[in-house]
Amino acid sequence: MAEKKTTTKLAQSMADYRTPSIKRQWYVAGRLEEFGEDLQEIVIMNRSLVRYRTSSGEPVLMQNRCPHRSYPLSESIREGDNIRCRYHGATFDSDGVFVRVPSQDICPKSGLRKYPVVEIGPFVWVWMANESPDYSLLPELPYTQGDWKLIIGRFDVPGNIMFMAENLCDLSHLPYLHEKTLGYPPEFAKEQLEIRQVGNGLEYERKISGQYYHKTVFFSQETSDLIDPCSYSMSNIGYFKSTALNYSYVRLMIDPADVAKYPGLQEEYGFIISHYLTPETDKTTHYYWLLARNYDMDKTSVDQQLESGITAAFMEDIETTQLLQDMMEKDHEPYREVIFGGDKVAVMMRRIVKQLADQEAKDKVTQ
Ligand code: FES
Ligand SMILES: [Fe+2]
Repeated sequence: MAEKKTTTKLAQSMADYRTPSIKRQWYVAGRLEEFGEDLQEIVIMNRSLVRYRTSSGEPVLMQNRCPHRSYPLSESIREGDNIRCRYHGATFDSDGVFVRVPSQDICPKSGLRKYPVVEIGPFVWVWMANESPDYSLLPELPYTQGDWKLIIGRFDVPGNIMFMAENLCDLSHLPYLHEKTLGYPPEFAKEQLEIRQVGNGLEYERKISGQYYHKTVFFSQETSDLIDPCSYSMSNIGYFKSTALNYSYVRLMIDPADVAKYPGLQEEYGFIISHYLTPETDKTTHYYWLLARNYDMDKTSVDQQLESGITAAFMEDIETTQLLQDMMEKDHEPYREVIFGGDKVAVMMRRIVKQLADQEAKDKVTQ
């Protein structure tokens, strides 16, 4: 009985798909090039928004719904940096201010809500809380500068953001769900993690015992064969920064004696796989991913191979998210989640998110 009570209490202290999305954080609102000349709609946190870029290069993200009769401004006409609503011709400037209403001489004071955005790395980030943006929470993306080769991809996830946020903190599914795509051996699920909480984030370091990383999807056959006869030490650290950003930094440090012995080897092979989640609705999520690597930099064939390999694995996560979302909708039997040893990071993450969500509810933060 006591155990049941404790488990229930634990479950209540963890965020899940019913928890309102965190508002006081920065989310990716699109890639730099998705803020272009065209007026485009993007839905974020159940708000229809219009995105474009002014002639001076400023990215703009505003309410998409014309305050007159709800016509989408993304389906309207761009006039210089202004938008003219296609329905009755009301015109707004890039700050969302009414500049013209054809049927009257005076413009209404209320216009379109404009959202604060910042460009960092290959993305435009948005602050959705209806209060002053906290610029100290803007993410750092060191791997988008310097000597890294980047590949970027995007998915539409048919499930709540928390399913995906948990999936990214849950490494114990890698050898199973991704049995045929990623190449991790079953012992991976048991390797020990050292977990550190840093502010509202987590760092989780995997203590690697086997030498199998060079055989995973992240390496081309050629590079994998080159590394195969060598011994190497490894570092693998995962970072949960927020539900909007999670990344893993993996480094293979080759034994210097092997570097001297086998031509063509480099001392260190590093890759960073990062994930960017943005709630679209309560049941759908925008998902961008970025792979940065410091090897095979000039081989476009490796780009293609990595992209298709990673996409195949990510599709398994996305299908899983949809299955979980569907289960929540069709099965209304009261249930209690069972927690496994491999869930430590995910449980800590869900507790942090629940505390943040509770604080936002207490502070009555709106979006
Ligand atoms: S709906 Fe936009 S001006 Fe009427
Ligand atoms: Fe996965």
